[in-house]
Amino acid sequence: MKKQLIYGVVLACCCAIGYISLASATADPGPDEMILESTIDPAKTPRTAFFTHGAHQARMECGVCHHGADADGNRIDYTEELDIARCESCHNSSADMPQGLGTFKDAAHAQCIGCHRETDPALARCNVCHK
Ligand code: HEC
Ligand code: HEC
Ligand code: HEC
Ligand code: HEC
Repeated sequence: MKKQLIYGVVLACCCAIGYISLASATADPGPDEMILESTIDPAKTPRTAFFTHGAHQARMECGVCHHGADADGNRIDYTEELDIARCESCHNSSADMPQGLGTFKDAAHAQCIGCHRETDPALARCNVCHK
């Protein structure tokens, strides 16, 4: 009798996990490929960056890159409910960001090149992203 109850609880947990993973499949994945370009702090000579969004989604979780900010401007981790805003809406020269994160270029280089360099130094070459 006791054993049956335990099995019931385990089954209920499995159903809940199944539901959660089903729900995550419905989050708007955004475009498969993108050309990234700063618009709030436009450069004199723009250097757009090519980004294979979909291929990265297949390799890692959304929260590796996406995060938000609370009312006090503190970073909050990604959740399914997060409204995904453009990086530059927070990382721009008018926002009160720490040094090294104050422009789209700085935030993107910290995140993109940071991981690329750790993965394989050849991936950190400029022309991987700047065609
Ligand atoms: C892994 C991808 C990646 C690599 C490698 C990379 N960048 Fe970038 N870079 C970006 C992204 C994303 C941006 C943000 C787009 C923007 O600022 O317009 C950016 C922005 C820039 C900007 C500002 C462009 C602008 O229009 O404001 C410059 C300049 C730049 N990168 C130079 C370089 C140089 C030089 C290298 C090699 C030493 C390099 N980047 C390597 C992704 C990369
Ligand atoms: C390797 C980093 C990375 C990962 C992983 C990633 N994204 Fe993104 N995503 C970006 C960048 C960079 C942008 C462009 C932001 C900008 O324009 O400033 C973006 C843009 C978006 C947008 C907005 C598109 C638009 O233009 O309106 C959505 C929606 C989105 N991502 C959803 C997701 C979801 C859901 C996942 C996980 C399944 C995910 N992303 C994983 C980096 C990533
Ligand atoms: C809603 C505002 C907001 C958006 C949108 C946003 N960030 Fe951030 N980001 C922050 C805040 C706040 C911090 C923490 C800054 C500090 O240390 O005080 C941060 C920190 C970071 C850091 C430092 C490491 C870390 O994770 O704490 C990197 C790198 C970064 N952001 C890159 C990005 C990139 C790339 C995008 C777009 C894919 C992005 N951010 C979108 C607000 C934002
Ligand atoms: C957490 C790690 C990580 C982050 C963050 C990341 N990348 Fe990558 N990126 C990879 C890996 C891993 C590969 C694939 C290496 C391989 O298999 O050849 C890759 C490959 C690429 C490629 C080559 C095409 C492809 O998809 O294979 C481009 C272009 C690229 N990344 C651009 C970017 C840009 C731009 C950003 C930031 C917006 C970014 N990456 C952020 C790990 C990362």
